[in-house]
Amino acid sequence: MASRKPKPEAAGAAKPARDSVSVVADLMFPPDANMHGTVFGGKVLQMVDKAASVCAMRHAGKPAVTVAMERVEFLVPIRVGTFLIAEARVHYAGRTSLEIGVEVYAEDMPGGTRQHTNSCLVTMVAVDAQGRPSPVPPLRVETPGEKARAAAADARRRARRPS
Ligand SMILES: CC(C)(COP(=O)(O)OP(=O)(O)OC[C@H]1O[C@@H](n2cnc3c(N)ncnc32)[C@H](O)[C@@H]1OP(=O)(O)O)[C@@H](O)C(=O)NCCC(=O)NCCS
Repeated sequence: MASRKPKPEAAGAAKPARDSVSVVADLMFPPDANMHGTVFGGKVLQMVDKAASVCAMRHAGKPAVTVAMERVEFLVPIRVGTFLIAEARVHYAGRTSLEIGVEVYAEDMPGGTRQHTNSCLVTMVAVDAQGRPSPVPPLRVETPGEKARAAAADARRRARRPS
């Protein structure tokens, strides 16, 4: 008979989605560029991963690791000299995993005009001291946008792992 992993209980009271919104921002310099003179995709992904990590740890209240990145979209090239902002929010809380949505904006300097440049979905897993999956608090969604994002994440999760 196949052995089954014990399912950890949820950790504590539900936390509002707005409480863990996290931002990583940086001014893009020449070392951040690729051979085309625009910002290297890996630089953007690093900022996305950092923003998602902080967001996940704020919600989980414990360490969290990246298990998957999906639907990474690079919508427009990003110029050196722009102020890049990665904004992460929890879309959905599972038992030990969190789907985090990260939106990236390039703010023109010194003009200040903002352009949406990237979207990404990151799944983070909260871990214990041994690096094993550990329960996360449920997510409280309040606004219509938060509810819509949670429903879409739930549908994606079901599609990924039908049970
Ligand atoms: C993340 C890690 C701890 C998960 O361990 P695991 O034994 O595979 O975990 P499980 O199968 O019990 O799954 C744990 C959760 O992750 C989710 N998950 C696992 N793989 C996934 C994937 N590829 N995509 C989306 N979710 C995934 C599961 O659905 C589950 O969610 P739930 O508890 O909310 O239902 C382990 O894979 C790991 O350590 N990976 C390396 C992480 C890393 O080094 N990241 C880069 C640096 S941060």
